[in-house]
Amino acid sequence: MLDRLLLEELLAEVRLAPSVHNIQPTRWRLLGDDTLLLLEDISRRLPAADPSGHDVRLSHGAAIEGLSLALGRRGLQIAQVEPLSDVTVSDGLQPVARIAVAAGGELDGLADFVSTRASWRGGFRAFDPAGEAALEGLPTSSTDLVLVRDPPAVIQIAQLADEAGFHFLCDDAHRAELLRWMRLSRSDSSYERDGLSAEAMAIPGVVALGTRLVLGPLFPLLHRLGLAATLASERGKFANSAVALFHRPDGEDSLASGGAFYRAWLAMTAQGLAACPVSVLADWPASNRQLVERYCVPMRRRLVNVFRLGLAAGAPAAGRARLPVAELIV
Ligand SMILES: Cc1cc2nc3c(=O)[nH]c(=O)nc-3n(C[C@H](O)[C@H](O)[C@H](O)COP(=O)(O)O)c2cc1C
Repeated sequence: MLDRLLLEELLAEVRLAPSVHNIQPTRWRLLGDDTLLLLEDISRRLPAADPSGHDVRLSHGAAIEGLSLALGRRGLQIAQVEPLSDVTVSDGLQPVARIAVAAGGELDGLADFVSTRASWRGGFRAFDPAGEAALEGLPTSSTDLVLVRDPPAVIQIAQLADEAGFHFLCDDAHRAELLRWMRLSRSDSSYERDGLSAEAMAIPGVVALGTRLVLGPLFPLLHRLGLAATLASERGKFANSAVALFHRPDGEDSLASGGAFYRAWLAMTAQGLAACPVSVLADWPASNRQLVERYCVPMRRRLVNVFRLGLAAGAPAAGRARLPVAELIV
């Protein structure tokens, strides 16, 4: 059933799944003709932004969902995902899960949106009636979302996102790590491979040059002058947007949450909506608590992430930085 050629074909689709900071930590090994081993490239972890490994595990979960969608196109399916724990790291690779593949899969409608889903970090245009309808379709397609539409409430969340973002930016290690994954110039040899390109972040060329200084050596001074928060503010990006709070059962393995996270995002794409996670809102305990209380996230559910979403005012970035398939097979 599975061989190297088919795995390469599958991974060409799987690699389009989202990953935190576009670190693409997931690697694959064929264990037999119906079994795959998912491994983590531990050199790609984010000790400052993601000390618990939660976001990296969510990213693996999204990759597994990507595999499921790609298999479905070919009449195959995932029969079992067996998470592995306490497995030793070898050659910088940590086994994460054993995945059994079987015949009998079906094409999933969301598979058609794998190639067009992308993080939208540009502006939004005002909702028109079709956009309103698309938005209303979302909560019925997923029980994992609480939608916030009211513009004053969205503005309040935007302010909270700035507070949460600034909380993390004040940590030197966090900023240094973020800069390591930013690809601010096309001359960066990894621009098309991984990380966050200036284009994907919707940062104009001149501003991109300044970003390295603002997040790097100038940050302490700008902070003392009270300018750093204003310069780092992303509040404007919420103009005309709605917000979706993505929640999953308390205690759920992030591998499973990651699959649902990817499906929720694909459902937004399917509705013609552009979206981008704003993880800081879920990661900072103070903002997470506020959102859960204010927007009545159901009991025994965990606020896993938050999306800003709406109608894109512009075209998506031309290319998407991804590692070559051959590097994903180990
Ligand atoms: C768990 C997780 C958290 C993310 N958090 C953020 C975020 O806070 N801000 C952001 O701009 N993008 C975030 N992203 C989006 C990734 O940066 C994005 O998926 C990656 O750069 C690949 O680009 P693409 O989504 O356009 O394919 C997150 C993605 C994942 C999987």
